[in-house]
Amino acid sequence: MQIMNLGSKEEACHYVANELLKQIISNKKSVLGLATGGTMVRVYEQLVNLIRINEIDLSEITTFNLDEYIGIDYDHPESYYTYMHDVLFNHLPSWNESRIHLPNGSAEDLEAETKRYEALLDQEGPIDVQILGIGENGHIGFNEPGTPFDSVTSIVNLTESTIEANSRYFETIEEVPEQAISMGIQSIMKAKRIILLAYGPKKAEAIKRLLTGDITTDLPASVLYNHPNVEVILDNNAYLSEEEDI
Ligand code: PGA
Repeated sequence: MQIMNLGSKEEACHYVANELLKQIISNKKSVLGLATGGTMVRVYEQLVNLIRINEIDLSEITTFNLDEYIGIDYDHPESYYTYMHDVLFNHLPSWNESRIHLPNGSAEDLEAETKRYEALLDQEGPIDVQILGIGENGHIGFNEPGTPFDSVTSIVNLTESTIEANSRYFETIEEVPEQAISMGIQSIMKAKRIILLAYGPKKAEAIKRLLTGDITTDLPASVLYNHPNVEVILDNNAYLSEEEDI
């Protein structure tokens, strides 16, 4: 695992956007693993700009998102389908909608949907570059603490900490979905390359625990030590040296 503190949020996001750009340029049939959340908004803004100025055709790029809420429609303003279209897909006309994949959290048969998604990942994958945020509790995707490392795409219950963190996007905490479909830890680990991005003081505790090097299901992100090609990209606020207090 390579850990890089790039100083500022802007630099950290710029690095991730650049790496996605490089991947897209190196292979126009790339498979990208995408993430949502506040962390990625700036990455996608920068990526949109880079793709525009390089006049890149995205029609053969395939994308897989990590997760989607259960209990709200795909076109709900806070669904991840809406987020991805608002922040990334709608800004660039050459995306091929049929190659854009998110789990369907309003599928009639949710179990079948998890199996469909995992099978599609296997069929279209492996993912060339998977980008990840990290939860304040160390989750990756919606794989909450305690999730077995061999988990595949499944229906997951969100922890109170995650519901609380996500409530900033909803009018009341009661409106925050309590379940989601998430790629599993094993599904994420199949990616050829993984870039985890974390910035801001709220992530400092999870990053501090990650940097101890202990591999434990209590901190799902620690599974990444078992992957041969992982970078953890930080800013000053998320990266605190041993001596500093949080
Ligand atoms: P955030 O979420 O980017 O909104 O902080 C990251 C995550 O929970 O994985």
